[in-house]
Amino acid sequence: MTLIPAAGSGCSGPPTPPSRVDAERPANSEVEWDGFDPWAYVQHNYSVLREDDREILCRIRDFFGGASVSGAHCVDVGSGANLYPALSLLPFARSMELCEWSTANVGWLRTQIESYDACWDAYWQVCAEHPAYATLADPRHRLARVGRVSQLSVFDLPRHAWGAGTMFFVACSISGDRTESEHAIGRFLGALRPSSPFAAAFMLGSHGYRVGQHWFPAVALQRAEVLTSIAAGAYDVDLHEVRPTPSLRDGYLGMLLVTGRSRG
Ligand SMILES: C[S@@+](CC[C@H](N)C(=O)[O-])C[C@H]1O[C@@H](n2cnc3c(N)ncnc32)[C@H](O)[C@@H]1O
Repeated sequence: MTLIPAAGSGCSGPPTPPSRVDAERPANSEVEWDGFDPWAYVQHNYSVLREDDREILCRIRDFFGGASVSGAHCVDVGSGANLYPALSLLPFARSMELCEWSTANVGWLRTQIESYDACWDAYWQVCAEHPAYATLADPRHRLARVGRVSQLSVFDLPRHAWGAGTMFFVACSISGDRTESEHAIGRFLGALRPSSPFAAAFMLGSHGYRVGQHWFPAVALQRAEVLTSIAAGAYDVDLHEVRPTPSLRDGYLGMLLVTGRSRG
């Protein structure tokens, strides 16, 4: 495992890192997020639509398609180099904010929302199997029109700002510190107005992951821990576990999809 040194990171937090840094469990501010390679990440994770992502996408499509939401200010938190959470919100979005901290990922997102790459068409086709999505003829153009990319940390999200939201593989995968993971879930749910529908996905039991040449930390979350953090800020919560074969990312047990409504 190679951890990227904190020095020079574009991350928030104290200008001088804490003197005692646990190299195996770095805090979010100790990781060089600008070293995240979005192209390598897409190539490894999303260039071909996998069955596990198809299953997740079908579930969030059906969830948002039945959530009676329209003309909403939507948010995807920690978008990184994945557009399918944003696509799942698109028909219901008056505006779509993609919040991301890494400068490299912010740059990738800005080019993608102008006109996204062909590999995302397969994801949209899955969405378009649902009538609420099928009526949207030109999702590429719609995302360009309503999408906006903000370099904003999950820890700095404003409260009660959005009416629907997604956060995929973020709380589990931005820090080695368990309390930061809980905090990220709380900030995400608190950023939604009361009763807003949301979907969030988590790696379970992850010990970190490689993107290109760089290794990034994770918290080895268990299902019960995620549920406890979510239940503090949500109701009508539904959990669904996906155990992919073969496994995709390094050292993890499976993926957990959570849908529900924010308490506010
Ligand atoms: C494992 S990736 C998940 C990316 C994407 N959401 C997906 O579904 O594949 C974690 C993402 O969180 C971003 N990130 C790291 N620290 C963050 C922070 N404090 N606030 C928001 N995003 C952050 C990383 O740059 C990266 O894009």
